[in-house]
Amino acid sequence: IPVDNFDLVIFGGTGDLARRKIFPGLYRRFLAGQMNVDSRIIGAARAKYSDDEFRAFIEAALVEFVAKDRQDPAQIAAFLARLHYVAVDAKEEGGWELLKSTLRQNVVRAFYFSVAPSIFPDLAERLHSHGITDAWSRIVVEKPFGRDLASARALNEVLAKYFTEAQIYRIDHYLGKETVQNLMAVRFANILFEPIWKAQYIDHVQITVGETVSVNGRGAYYDKSGAMRDMVQNHLMQLLCLIAMEPPYHFDPDAVRDEKVKVIRALQPVPPQNIVRGQYLAGNGEGGYLEHCEDANSKTESYIAMKVEIANWRWKGTPFYLRTGKRLRARSSEIAIHFKEPPHSIFDGEKGWKENVLVIRLQPNEGMNLMVMIKEPGPGGMRLMQVPLDMTFADALGVEAEDVPDAYERLIMDVIRGNQTLFMRGDEVEAAWAWTDPIINGWESRGDKPQGYDPGSSGPEDALMLMHRDGRRWREIK
Ligand code: BG6
Repeated sequence: IPVDNFDLVIFGGTGDLARRKIFPGLYRRFLAGQMNVDSRIIGAARAKYSDDEFRAFIEAALVEFVAKDRQDPAQIAAFLARLHYVAVDAKEEGGWELLKSTLRQNVVRAFYFSVAPSIFPDLAERLHSHGITDAWSRIVVEKPFGRDLASARALNEVLAKYFTEAQIYRIDHYLGKETVQNLMAVRFANILFEPIWKAQYIDHVQITVGETVSVNGRGAYYDKSGAMRDMVQNHLMQLLCLIAMEPPYHFDPDAVRDEKVKVIRALQPVPPQNIVRGQYLAGNGEGGYLEHCEDANSKTESYIAMKVEIANWRWKGTPFYLRTGKRLRARSSEIAIHFKEPPHSIFDGEKGWKENVLVIRLQPNEGMNLMVMIKEPGPGGMRLMQVPLDMTFADALGVEAEDVPDAYERLIMDVIRGNQTLFMRGDEVEAAWAWTDPIINGWESRGDKPQGYDPGSSGPEDALMLMHRDGRRWREIK
């Protein structure tokens, strides 16, 4: 089967994710010459569109979500010509035979489930019962993958009735971010870091995913989820795994995922005193969380900070502090590795010393920054100062930010190429829920309430204490 020629079906093809991310991403890959001209994308949803109506709908999405200087009318027209549409309803019979006859033989068939998770089982069943999938077919499943261990396991079991694990691509779009993949390159393509990448030399690690957006407009989903389910169980967990895992023997899907699962299984249960939950208050001209979620008594967190420990030889004694939240001071995500003091100082009484910190900036301004000590210039004796070895990837590579592929583009092309390295395996998702469940169950059984925090701040006061207590401090969110 020629892997560069595919039929990609997007269930939920008229939805928000499809408009904002999937189709703009596919268009950019098309522009980059990565999509074979014979390949086709088939939108599938309940609305009764003709091919032309669907093309007009997607054209409007491209105009809205693709950078102006990438909008070439001739290229857009050529891309739209690759699109088709079939009306189907996962709950009803109509349309499925038409979908089957629309697909070609002897090309890769991929089916993107960009729909509510409650519909996944129906979709899988219909694809199977109508004989639409073959041994080469792949399905792409969006998050959330379950809301606890039991539901994730049930979903894995349903999908396993119709598809092998090698056919299931569970998306965590953080794995498609350039800088996240760079984490692996930095760790495993340099001799420099790996020998000191352990508790003996690393004091602690901070992982921050700060967002400025609120949950306004998606409160109904978010309130059943909260920051723990929406961000920590998946995105932050993946970042933690890539930092903490042992070197895989090869950059190969199962080798990488085996190592990530080992990290998740080594995560210690987190006691309540090591977690701070927050809810944003009203302010800066916008309502607070309780208004956005439309439940004045909601105990769901829009912010979480936690101290996580990994019980294995490499990390015993080195805490990982994680935090993420909505309506914070800045949209800023980074991983900071804080190294320990040198074992002995030869500069007696020197006050200027600060620890080495390796900062990997995920967004914005993707790059790396290594804080090192040097001598302060001048004749005044040996005074130390900290300076950054700073690298912004776009500058270093001479590319424009626009040319860095979006996470979804990368991941969809990996599905077509049949590469699962950047997708979550079933046991990995289950292991993550197995760690998350007791934490959430604890809040629910105790009736824990999150602490309010001001929009535009760096989160609740207690989160500062989580660090101060250990003689450490969070990096500024800016
Ligand atoms: C999604 C969450 O998975 O990730 C959202 O559901 C969150 O709540 C988003 O805003 C963040 O993604 P990014 O790529 O903007 O950092």
